[in-house]
Amino acid sequence: MTIVGLLNPGAMGASIGAAALTNVEDVLWTSEGRSDATRIRAEKAGLTNAGSFADLVDASELILSVCPPASALALANEVFSLGFKGTYVDCNAIAPEQTRAIAEIASNKGARLVDGGIIGGPAWQAAAGTKLWLSGPDISEVTALFEHSSLHTGVAGSEIGAASALKMCFAAFTKGSTALLAAVLAVADKEGVGDALAEQWGEAFTSKTKQQVTTNSSKAWRFAGEMEQIAATFDSAGLPGGFHEAAADVFYRLSEFKDWQSKPAFDDLLQALQSK
Ligand SMILES: NC(=O)c1ccc[n+]([C@@H]2O[C@H](COP(=O)([O-])OP(=O)(O)OC[C@H]3O[C@@H](n4cnc5c(N)ncnc54)[C@H](OP(=O)(O)O)[C@@H]3O)[C@@H](O)[C@H]2O)c1
Repeated sequence: MTIVGLLNPGAMGASIGAAALTNVEDVLWTSEGRSDATRIRAEKAGLTNAGSFADLVDASELILSVCPPASALALANEVFSLGFKGTYVDCNAIAPEQTRAIAEIASNKGARLVDGGIIGGPAWQAAAGTKLWLSGPDISEVTALFEHSSLHTGVAGSEIGAASALKMCFAAFTKGSTALLAAVLAVADKEGVGDALAEQWGEAFTSKTKQQVTTNSSKAWRFAGEMEQIAATFDSAGLPGGFHEAAADVFYRLSEFKDWQSKPAFDDLLQALQSK
């Protein structure tokens, strides 16, 4: 039975680890360098602490990388520098160019990369419909790992980069439009036309929009890195990356709300958006 390592049990990662436990006995994680919040999620998901980072890499035959997008390349480098020769599944929201760069590092070290992109919320229940899109020549081991689990899998294409590109295109609209709406509300407020805009938009759209911005504020710090990856994806495809560079700036302005458990007041969000 394949020994699976998970880096790291975040909000999404913990649910992916729990899903993998449908088909393997243990999923390893490492507490080295991680917070208490990660430890609590790992324990709740039933994962096994491998000890150090090096111990996890040494013991694992397949590693699932589920981390902040801005850290995905550095994390892969750390794993391969320890001599990992198994299957490395990068599940992060990163540009296809970056995924191809990680595939090259893997191949130079005698390992395999599977490209992954997750669409949907944490995969605690199959009914949530969360899907791990996969691409590349070696995906069968990963589809088998999640068979009959709470995480659905799909094939985005045969080439490394396809799953990442799909995730980039999907999030370009969902998260990109949230950033646009946040910026619109901040400008309207600054110009003193917030109430008039709300009247023009109507009650339903206005409250839905404010809720969307508020709900995403605790994750904005992570979305900023993802927007930069989307900007790079657009640039590489010969389209303007500026939309999502601006979206990254909008999300950076909200990064002080990182991991807030309670809802911030909307006026506090507007103030953060208006200050550089
Ligand atoms: N959450 C979602 O609904 C969702 C949906 C679709 C896709 N995804 C994708 O899933 C990935 C992770 O999301 P998540 O929700 O699990 O994030 P998260 O809740 O922020 O957790 C991130 C995990 O990575 C660890 N981490 C922090 N800094 C790191 C670093 N520099 N290197 C390695 N690990 C680090 C964190 O540990 P500590 O905090 O303990 O340091 C934590 O365990 C992202 O690529 C995201 O795009 C998430």
